[in-house]
Amino acid sequence: MKFYIETIGCQMNVNDSDKMAEILLENGCMQTDDMLQANIVIINTCSVRFSAEHKAYSLLGRLKEQKDINPNLIIGVTGCMAQYATKEIKSRCKYVDFVLGARDLDMFSKVIIKYLPKSKENVKYKQENKEVFKYITIMRGCSNFCSYCIVPYVRGPEISINYNEIIKEVNEAVTDGAKEIILLGQNVNSYNYDGVNFTHLLQKVSQIDKVKRIRFMTNHPKDFSNELIEEIATNKKICRHIHLPLQSGSNAILKAMNRKYTYEQYENLFNKIRNSIPDISITSDIIIGFPGETDKDFKATFDASRKLQFGGLFIFKYSSRPKTVSAKLKNIVPLEVIKKRHTLLLEDSNIISKKINEKYINQVVEVLVENFKKNIAQARNSQNIKIFFDTDKNLVGQIVNVKITKVLPNSMLGILQ
Ligand code: 5AD
Ligand code: SF4
Repeated sequence: MKFYIETIGCQMNVNDSDKMAEILLENGCMQTDDMLQANIVIINTCSVRFSAEHKAYSLLGRLKEQKDINPNLIIGVTGCMAQYATKEIKSRCKYVDFVLGARDLDMFSKVIIKYLPKSKENVKYKQENKEVFKYITIMRGCSNFCSYCIVPYVRGPEISINYNEIIKEVNEAVTDGAKEIILLGQNVNSYNYDGVNFTHLLQKVSQIDKVKRIRFMTNHPKDFSNELIEEIATNKKICRHIHLPLQSGSNAILKAMNRKYTYEQYENLFNKIRNSIPDISITSDIIIGFPGETDKDFKATFDASRKLQFGGLFIFKYSSRPKTVSAKLKNIVPLEVIKKRHTLLLEDSNIISKKINEKYINQVVEVLVENFKKNIAQARNSQNIKIFFDTDKNLVGQIVNVKITKVLPNSMLGILQ
């Protein structure tokens, strides 16, 4: 049996897809990256924006044609959209074999086993390309209820996972060859298990010898502590990158979004981080066109982007989601206006990120090599920038020095030193 998994959405989903792949491999299936070759296709869905749901449905449309040709094809839908739109998926796509929500993923092995051949002669395939970096979920759900966001309704309330289990998983990952650990949660800054907070957890993880690098995401400005800034500044294993979503530069919009900070508080925190950790790269998320966003509100966001000079900015067009508080708001911003604002900010922020990255030219930076294909290595520096360089050796998993020669919009080129 060959399986194909399509992952839509965030790192949480990437992590969940990895877990499903591992279970399928343990049961003798082989992974393929060609959907048309697969006997089992799983679409791991996202519901954070309408466009993500649209993508899942169009893939499911293509799968119907595949199933018409091969009625034995097994189709599963998992993840966030599967969690809250189970009925809709089942009624719109009757040919889907199973729908399993993000919160029920623990049942995946029980569900999938029903579709696998009973033969005991199944060869067990081990995951071959062991990852250089390993995602580890430290928290589930979210209790922040930002007014635009569907996550708290789909993934449920915030729960911190026992740090003993996390440490066990980290140990297993590094024993399997992982060099970098990426801790995941919707708001890792509010991690707390039995009095162990996020800073304590970082200390515990960094004490593990074989862990070479630590990343984490995502952060919430309202919970980012001074203690954490101090820890990042002094702990060499923690990568110099913080993703700190701003969402809007306008206080009226931030309030309507229920973000619980003002722009001034964000800027203060931002400057404190920059001043304490000089080589840090701070990236952010922005939502354009939240209901009621005026030209003046947008200008505040645009000015914030110019002033703060993010290392990278992810700009999303507001998407009204079921169940959320903002879905009931009036003063919808017309799509043409959203598109115009989106383009304006995107073009400006790309120029800023490129300018920031240009300071790396001729510098020698330390990178961890993640991939190697056709004599080109793909690596990442501490600031989370992708770097490509030529080499005839497979250096995957190694930390090497690269001299930066060229800066592209989302990556850099270099020469191995
Ligand atoms: N519409 C647009 N963007 C959204 N995000 C979350 N919900 C929505 C929505 N309804 C964005 C936020 C968040 C990122 C992961 O997705 O910017 O930080
Ligand atoms: Fe959504 Fe806000 Fe929770 Fe992030 S912190 S997942 S934006 S509700």
